Amino acid sequence: MNILLTGGAGFIGSHTFVSLVDAGMRPVILDNFVNSHTAVLDRLRAITGHAVVCERGDVLDTAWVEQVLRRHQIAGVIHFAGYKAVGESVAQPLKYYHNNIGGAVSLMRAMEGAGCATLVFSSSATVYGDPATVPICENFPRQHTNPYGHTKLVIEDMLQAQRIAHPEWKVAVLRYFNPVGAHPSGLIGEDPVGIPNNLMPYITQVALSQRPRLQVYGSDYPTPDGTGVRDYIHVCDLAEGHVAAIKALFAQGESFTANLGTGQGHSVLEVVRAFEAASGRTIPYQLGPRRPGDVAQCYADATLAQQLLGWRATRSLQQMCADAWRWQSRNPNGYR
Ligand code: NAD
Ligand code: UD1
Repeated sequence: MNILLTGGAGFIGSHTFVSLVDAGMRPVILDNFVNSHTAVLDRLRAITGHAVVCERGDVLDTAWVEQVLRRHQIAGVIHFAGYKAVGESVAQPLKYYHNNIGGAVSLMRAMEGAGCATLVFSSSATVYGDPATVPICENFPRQHTNPYGHTKLVIEDMLQAQRIAHPEWKVAVLRYFNPVGAHPSGLIGEDPVGIPNNLMPYITQVALSQRPRLQVYGSDYPTPDGTGVRDYIHVCDLAEGHVAAIKALFAQGESFTANLGTGQGHSVLEVVRAFEAASGRTIPYQLGPRRPGDVAQCYADATLAQQLLGWRATRSLQQMCADAWRWQSRNPNGYR
């Protein structure tokens, strides 16, 4: 079964490629490499022992995407392609609306043209904004606090409208919590451009002395140690969640929306300690002010995915840190 991965050369897409091959499916990558490197393709071949099929181009090019869908006889699509930096989306909103929403519209039109109606979409826990309580269930109210989050809300709504208009469409909306870690081979991982915005890549760069210390954003939150609490999920668990989701769409044909998280929250200082234990390195840090827009606690109620898909995250925080460290220490400059 051939599955198209838009954005398949990126962090989550590349790990999902491996899980799909492991599950006996034939993934095809579609990527314009705006936020990834062609070097990932050789790494994927080394991990899987299979040829890697990749179509280089832009998801905004509807006619070309339709040709790709037809040429590879694609049965289903996993749509990862998009921009994801919250701060940049505030500074350059049109860049985000154009690529993320425009990309989703373009892909869906190409799918209509090619007669492909099975789609898994990368949404985010950001659609819950500042939740009133934790853990967060799928039926909690949605809100957005920045243009990036707004694009996820709009695309979720577009998918819903398309399903209502065309009941043959089968859609899985997956709301990721905080994906971290890397494939245990150390060959693929997260490779942010410039100063990392997110906690784990920042910590791994401090561990390599590429940055002097971690700034902890806020130590006065109403959490056990005062630092922010998040639901960190190993990217390989997340990747396996996509395999379970696309299989469920093919098997039952029912559309659904599900959180992909572990259901467990960890504070910033807990992550620092777990990373120190996994790497044997000391992480200097400084407690500082809160980052604007951050919430105190965000973690999933992960039971729906387990009920619907028979999937749950199994890898520990220790494993996430060990794998993130293996990737970063073996590839201090990422894919460059
Ligand atoms: P990533 O930037 O590593 O991967 C995205 C890929 O899409 C890149 O390879 C990029 O080159 C490609 N791309 C972007 N625009 C494109 C276009 N117009 N045409 C073709 N390719 C294009 O990001 P990621 O972390 O792997 O995230 C994948 C998806 O998951 C994104 O939609 C993101 O918003 C969502 N998500 C990520 C996180 C996270 O923390 N990483 C959390 C929640 C949701
Ligand atoms: C970020 C995104 C969010 C996205 C999510 C999942 C922002 C504002 N939000 O959220 O839209 O859905 O990733 O990938 O970027 N921290 C520090 N020091 C740092 C970096 C982070 O203390 O240098 C803290 C944060 O305050 C937070 C925790 O670490 O408490 C995790 O931060 P981060 O990795 O950026 O993820 P989120 O804030 O959950």
